[in-house]
Amino acid sequence: MKGLILSGGKGTRLYPLTYTRAKQLIPVANKPVLIRVIETIREAGVTEIGIVIGQTGPEIRETVGDGSRYGVHIEYIEQNSPDGLAHAVKISREFLGDDSFVMFLGDNVIQGGISKLIADFAASDWNSQIVLKVVENPSAFGVAKLRDDNSIEYLIEKPKNPPSNLALVGIYMFDHHVFEAVDAIQPSQRGELEITDAIQWLVDHGYRVMPHVHQGWWIDTGKPIDMLEANSCVLDEITPSIAPDAIIENSEVDRRVTIEAGARIINSIVRGPTIIGEGVLIENSYVGPYTSIYHHVAVQQCEIERSIVLENSRLSDIDVRLHDSLIGRNTSVQRKQTKPRSITLNLGDYSNVWMT
Ligand code: TTP
Repeated sequence: MKGLILSGGKGTRLYPLTYTRAKQLIPVANKPVLIRVIETIREAGVTEIGIVIGQTGPEIRETVGDGSRYGVHIEYIEQNSPDGLAHAVKISREFLGDDSFVMFLGDNVIQGGISKLIADFAASDWNSQIVLKVVENPSAFGVAKLRDDNSIEYLIEKPKNPPSNLALVGIYMFDHHVFEAVDAIQPSQRGELEITDAIQWLVDHGYRVMPHVHQGWWIDTGKPIDMLEANSCVLDEITPSIAPDAIIENSEVDRRVTIEAGARIINSIVRGPTIIGEGVLIENSYVGPYTSIYHHVAVQQCEIERSIVLENSRLSDIDVRLHDSLIGRNTSVQRKQTKPRSITLNLGDYSNVWMT
């Protein structure tokens, strides 16, 4: 069994963060989502992994390298343009050979791993297994209709009248017959080779496609709100720890807080679940639950909760509490020291600001 991670794409819904960084490298609880995906696949015993990369390939190669740091072997597969998930499978044929494989979207986070799924598929004679999840708003997803024997009858993208509440999660398992499917299908109206069409082709041609209904949480980190939600879910599951060289002075830090090497908490209150990254300074501040502060950030005279702050940023002297915020790298949010007392913004394209 091999692994295939899809890490191309544009990430337009996460602008402006994804102008300058691959969306799969944005950290959730201080670890890039893509690294979480690699670890999930490795924990299921799969160590030969191909990563499909696009425009942001160089950054992904630099971060992940040959995979040895994560106990896996990585090969990169270049996709010239994001022409769809089935297109990504098509161009990975040489890497995949005749092996069965698990395909995972590089921006998805799932609770509880995929070991059982992989074991079920490996022990079966199924041609494909797809992961489904019960959702409240199936019209927003690809939806599956099952037959009485539990196999897949058909899939439909964003249906107005959903035939079930079972949405497709971004995890799929295939044997080599999927290559017949991706060769046979045509691009959809949006010009992409759709994986749902490839799976439908398998069903229509008598191949056995079985569902696995996932019980835990699963989050596609496509939009900022999903990023915050994934961050909260992962923080809830982290076993807290405090690095031996972390400095905590005159501060209240509760049990569910993780503090990484070299961080300093001075005259502050930190409530978990929260993670404070390497070399971070928290001073005269309040850091509330569900916050991830990435490395080398300074938070001084501020209050912040349920937010993600990326590396090397600085928040200082803000007199309103920041909440549900996603703050990029090398960003500065501070009180203006000169008159007039007004708000001055220096924002990137597609930024959002909500004033009180
Ligand atoms: P999407 O979230 O569907 O696409 P996107 O990353 O382009 O995002 P947006 O809609 O915000 O512009 O992609 C899901 C995952 O699959 C993501 O990790 C990118 C990857 N992908 C590919 O590798 N190749 C592709 O052709 C496509 C469409 C996506």
